[in-house]
Amino acid sequence: MTGLARTPIDDVTLRLADTAAWLTTPLMPEDYLTLINPLWSSRELRGRVEAVHPETKDVASLVIRPGRSWSTHRAGQFIRVGVDIDGVRHWRTYSLSSAPERGDGRVTITVKSVPGGVVSTHLVHRTTPGTIVGLTRPEGGFVLPEPVPSRLLFVTAGSGITPVMAMLRSLARPGEMPDVIVLHSAPTREEVIFGPELRTLAGRFPHLLLHEQHTRSSGRLNLSQLPDLCPDWPERHVWACGPTGMLREAETYWREAGIADRLRMEHFRPAVTTSAAGGGGHVRFLVSGREADADGATPLLVVGENAGVLMPSGCRMGICYRCTGRLRSGRVRDLRTGREYGEEGELIQTCVSAADGNVEIEL
Ligand SMILES: Cc1cc2nc3c(=O)[nH]c(=O)nc-3n(C[C@H](O)[C@H](O)[C@H](O)COP(=O)(O)OP(=O)(O)OC[C@H]3O[C@@H](n4cnc5c(N)ncnc54)[C@H](O)[C@@H]3O)c2cc1C
Ligand code: FES
Repeated sequence: MTGLARTPIDDVTLRLADTAAWLTTPLMPEDYLTLINPLWSSRELRGRVEAVHPETKDVASLVIRPGRSWSTHRAGQFIRVGVDIDGVRHWRTYSLSSAPERGDGRVTITVKSVPGGVVSTHLVHRTTPGTIVGLTRPEGGFVLPEPVPSRLLFVTAGSGITPVMAMLRSLARPGEMPDVIVLHSAPTREEVIFGPELRTLAGRFPHLLLHEQHTRSSGRLNLSQLPDLCPDWPERHVWACGPTGMLREAETYWREAGIADRLRMEHFRPAVTTSAAGGGGHVRFLVSGREADADGATPLLVVGENAGVLMPSGCRMGICYRCTGRLRSGRVRDLRTGREYGEEGELIQTCVSAADGNVEIEL
């Protein structure tokens, strides 16, 4: 375990738990200690929300103290957070917005409440200090390489600033900040997440240039502005995070310039295309006995959740394979590629698959 502030009492208690577990049954003593402090569990990583700081009207940062089996993250990585809402645990993915160097054993995630969003609205508007959440260890490759390149460009929009903020906070030490340009879009100045901190950093480090694109007054950032905003853009290593449309444009722009390898992207949502949608149909979830009608564009994960099925999930964008279910009959379509799957017994990723006709799935 690294990066956690543990008291001597915690250490003694943990050692007692380990010894007792070894002497008696492998499970019971820790179970009792976990009742006293849920963060002591070594089987399930949990965290305690210690503070909730509003960032904008619909965005908040949650300060979380992770439990004993946490491992330090790299700036830019994400975790999965398990939140209990009305007796059901929902898992969602959030980038860590704190720097690994924070030093008080706590981490932050910064969440934007999306309209109709089950977990984001709960985290931003209804979570209070003391809440225990499930956690996974940090993962993801949207990180700075070692050594850090001398010239960086960050292209972000909305909540896409969160992993980049972790990187900037990590670099904001004397002698560590390279030449950085941040091009960030938000509807207004007030809605720039971490706006005051970004402006302070830009004032503190002469080689950190911040361009805020306030889209409500100035329109969307067009990549044709890039040569003006960042004349040496082809020579910079680039990290981009924001809405799917922005990332698609960036991908095309850097690919056409023949330097796609300079661009790293983090997607918060799966890159689904409407042209990949299937025909929809009636879906039967065989294990839970639930059923529902589905259109051809809604992932079976969402169809199942709306029908009250306890659907396993993780990243919700086709990366982690935690949402798979066995297809028993019918055909589904991968919403990213339009590819059809229909073999009996085939494992499908429910987060990126939609019904193309009637479907029976083992969930
Ligand atoms: C690697 C990764 C890192 C992420 N980091 C962050 C982060 O730092 N901060 C953050 O706020 N979110 C982040 N997300 C997105 C987050 O995981 C959730 O998707 C988001 O909070 C919405 O969850 P929900 O339960 O509120 O919405 P759901 O109930 O799952 O969906 C409700 C509606 O909102 C739409 N929706 C889902 N996700 C989004 C989204 N991201 N933007 C707009 N509409 C959406 C759905 O299509 C649906 O119509 C990240 C996602 C990934 C994969
Ligand atoms: S939830 Fe991660 S692949 Fe489906």
